[in-house]
Amino acid sequence: MDRYGVMGNPIKHSLSPSIHRMFAETSEQNLCYEAMLVAEDAFKQAVEGFSDSGGKGLNVTVPFKEQAWQLATKRSQRAELAGAVNTLSFVDGEIFGENTDGVGLVTDILNNHHGEIKGKRILIVGAGGAVRGILAPILAEQPAELVLVNRTVSKAEGLAEHFQHLGKIHPCGFDALDDRPFDCLINGSSASLGGQLPPLPSGCIAPHSWCYDMMYGAEPTPFNVWAEQQGAAKVMDGLGMLVEQAAEAFFIWRHVRPKTSPVLEALRNSLS
Ligand code: ATR
Repeated sequence: MDRYGVMGNPIKHSLSPSIHRMFAETSEQNLCYEAMLVAEDAFKQAVEGFSDSGGKGLNVTVPFKEQAWQLATKRSQRAELAGAVNTLSFVDGEIFGENTDGVGLVTDILNNHHGEIKGKRILIVGAGGAVRGILAPILAEQPAELVLVNRTVSKAEGLAEHFQHLGKIHPCGFDALDDRPFDCLINGSSASLGGQLPPLPSGCIAPHSWCYDMMYGAEPTPFNVWAEQQGAAKVMDGLGMLVEQAAEAFFIWRHVRPKTSPVLEALRNSLS
């Protein structure tokens, strides 16, 4: 049976094994998928051991995505730009590195929620690793305007420069945001993890605005609670992104596109 898995630290709460096992079952793929806890200084050995013993592919999560990028012998263009890899495939002695996070986000917004990015005014909050992973697929959708706001403005400026050949990004700090509302606001900061809300002015949201927190949990995130309070038209969390990035990895490995909606529904039920 072909073997796959996810490596991270911590890994206990990873939903990836459930997701990939459901994908395998519904698409009748004969494979096994395990969660693997890897010591912080043992990622390279763990990946090599897995591939040497016949493993076919890995998902990679915190804190190893940058190390996975370095280990890859070949990378897609979007992985190259993201500086981080969440999917490894072992084929003919090569380690192919891909980043499916951004595609997962875009697929969730466009296909699952029937939203639009093309021609829209988009705000992305945060300029860390998570945001770096989504910028190329967001720019590929050709938003009318993409504003990148971060506490540390220099990090937003750095990303705008890094991706400038793919499209225009306007970097700024929170105090530079005026009362012009955005069509879509995406929270890619880690503020929700600490129960915090990025200091966004309420004028950023209008009744037609869509809000997306890349985090998810059993309870709505602080960003999503705030977005609801401001009267946003739609409020979404990152569970769909998680399932869609997994589906993209599954497709890379198995060349089969699994159905995502039953998996998303099952996870949503188990979370609540
Ligand atoms: P990740 O891999 O999750 O992106 P990261 O690279 O540490 O993690 O980046 C975290 C991001 O969340 C950064 O953009 C950070 O802002 P700074 O660059 O100014 O540190 C942002 N962030 C974290 N806590 C925040 C908060 N309470 N309000 C606003 N932004 C926050």
